[in-house]
Amino acid sequence: MAQQYRITLLPGDGIGPEIIAVAIDVLKVIGEKFALTFKFQEALIGGSAIDATGEPLPPKTLELCKNSDAVLLAAIGGYKWDTLPRHLRPETGLLSLRSSLGLFANLRPATILPQLIDASTLKREVVEGVDMMVVRELTGGVYFGQPRGIFTTETGERRGVNTMAYTESEIDRIGKVAFETARKRGKKLCSVDKSNVLEVSQLWRDRITELSKDYTDVELSHLYVDNAAMQLVRNPKQFDTIVTSNLFGDILSDAAAMLTGSIGMLPSASLGALGPGVFEPVHGSAPDIAGQDKANPLAQILSAAMMLRYGLDQPAAADRIEQAVLKVLDQNYRTGDIMSDGKTLLGCQAMGQALIKALM
Ligand code: IPM
Ligand code: MG
Repeated sequence: MAQQYRITLLPGDGIGPEIIAVAIDVLKVIGEKFALTFKFQEALIGGSAIDATGEPLPPKTLELCKNSDAVLLAAIGGYKWDTLPRHLRPETGLLSLRSSLGLFANLRPATILPQLIDASTLKREVVEGVDMMVVRELTGGVYFGQPRGIFTTETGERRGVNTMAYTESEIDRIGKVAFETARKRGKKLCSVDKSNVLEVSQLWRDRITELSKDYTDVELSHLYVDNAAMQLVRNPKQFDTIVTSNLFGDILSDAAAMLTGSIGMLPSASLGALGPGVFEPVHGSAPDIAGQDKANPLAQILSAAMMLRYGLDQPAAADRIEQAVLKVLDQNYRTGDIMSDGKTLLGCQAMGQALIKALM
């Protein structure tokens, strides 16, 4: 009997529907090859959900997500919704999805593919061979700490407040994911904090150091976040696995992504202790090219591969997709964002078809 999985699809906004359509086709082919049956159910999130229901994460969407084995998300947001009050923004939908599903661990790989090395803005010798994983804490820290808000002081001046807070258990659970991840990779973990200034970071560093006693096979180092940003650009090859808090991870994962020069290629996974994970490309909804068949579907396809690997425990199927992505690049197929001289320019759908051919 074929293994059955219920997958919630969240196409979202902008190029989302185009790239997720390609990922569905790829998953169908993978299903046939590996005797897996995917039951897809689609739901609204972000701007399209705001337009249809008045809220960025309708309760029905959350319910469908909870009743599935994994969630494949494309991208959310667009100019149209940028001026709405915060609780109605597409981003708020994404943040409440993360927190409602308890997705505290965000895995963001940044790998330089030899075929795309010239897409990097850095020198070849600096980026060649870069292969790192940023493990970002996703449901705590300054993104969610209380108190927060814009308050009026006694003198009548407004004061904006956010709170960066972590409990020991929040640090321990992300720390464990990071050590386990590093153990399966290059056995090197760099923890990034600001413990020279912030108490919350001091606690972070103490807990990560304490945890390292259970992972003596993993070499642990610590960096302050400003230095880490500098080291990422100066010599990115020194990093294998990085673990850091929500805001620092938001910033460093964008910098790490840009080392590759091709953010259109990067997937991510958000995982909780139990229940479905959410798998989504690192890039946004690219409203400027939406509906024009110009989007690069490969990050979405690689997100489906991460879903198979980390969400559904089907590593062979994930490997197969990742190999097919390398193959289409070797065949010199490129979408506009990664195009260079002498390569063949394809649209989103044609890239999907090339990929399916490569899977056969
Ligand atoms: C990300 C994004 C989100 C974040 C936004 C869209 C809320 O930048 O996934 O990195 O800040 O976490
Ligand atoms: Mg970000």
